[in-house]
Amino acid sequence: MKRILVLPGDGIGPEVANEAIKVLECISEITKEKFEFEYELIGGISIDQRGVPITDEVIEKAKKSDAVFLGAVGGPNWDNLPMDKKPESGLLKLRKSLNLWANIRPIKILMKKISPLRPALLKKIDFVVIRELTSDIYFGTPRAIEENRAYNTASYTREEVERIARLAFELARKRKKKVTSIDKANVLEVSAFWRKIVSEISKDYPDISLEHVYVDAASFYLIVNPARFDVLLCPNLFGDILSDEGGAIIGSLGLCPSASLGDSNFGLYEPVHGSAPDIAGKGIANPIASILSAAMLLRYSFNMEKEAKAVEKAVEKTIKDGLRTQDIAERNQRPVSTREFGDYVVKKIKEMYL
Ligand code: IPM
Ligand code: MN
Repeated sequence: MKRILVLPGDGIGPEVANEAIKVLECISEITKEKFEFEYELIGGISIDQRGVPITDEVIEKAKKSDAVFLGAVGGPNWDNLPMDKKPESGLLKLRKSLNLWANIRPIKILMKKISPLRPALLKKIDFVVIRELTSDIYFGTPRAIEENRAYNTASYTREEVERIARLAFELARKRKKKVTSIDKANVLEVSAFWRKIVSEISKDYPDISLEHVYVDAASFYLIVNPARFDVLLCPNLFGDILSDEGGAIIGSLGLCPSASLGDSNFGLYEPVHGSAPDIAGKGIANPIASILSAAMLLRYSFNMEKEAKAVEKAVEKTIKDGLRTQDIAERNQRPVSTREFGDYVVKKIKEMYL
């Protein structure tokens, strides 16, 4: 039996998480592998009901589960709270408390038509952002807002850079054998250090080619030549930014899943997109990122590669059969609801196992 803690969160979080859970239930039914779901609060809804964006009890429950599935956090209601009381800080606390130092965000073309890039550029877009997740300017101290000054601290230890670099090289080995390390080493000490450690680690991986690219140049190349990337190794902040750009070039953030991992198989799975308060509660959000995050859960936490692939295939088939939520629909097409899309994916999975 596997235990999954579900944190639907805010905005469209609950709607898209629902579809992912439906897919996991379907896989459970097919494989007879029992999944047990427990639901808890994170983000704005936790602030409203419990006064804090995540309680210690929820973090304890997460630690006791085999995987955590998260919808989204945040919204305009909570934007003006102090930094450590905001919904987002609940998610950051969860990642940090669970020591989930690696965030994996695959970027792949699913639908050519919705990309803002010229068709000629789209052919080989297939890369993975490996984002360091528990350090950098996100967590560095000192940090404060004072009356006439504010500051944060970007910092990395050798160990933090080493482990994420190794993960990137290992992953590249299973792919096109190319790592692009992102930094701003022409300006920042923390980046010069990052670059030095990544170069050192690369000596253990002579079969992998390594390039260092400044983050400004990388954001340029992502648009003019995205096919050059295979594994993008990023510090926390740059990875956050470049992964959104990845979503942009494939046409929608609604297509981008993510897995956050640490030293074991345990992981936190969430779509890259946010809570999209403007469309929340309408049942029209795109559940693809969420469903693909469930596939990553099967792959990384449950070692169910075959089932993970089946889920990904089912999403592709659903797209191929023309189902589109409003964000990816063509002009004269009737968009389907979040639920209709999810139901169809489930149907496709079942067909594959007949
Ligand atoms: C992401 C999000 C989060 C981050 C926010 C919600 C804290 O933007 O997962 O990319 O900055 O890491
Ligand atoms: Mn982000």
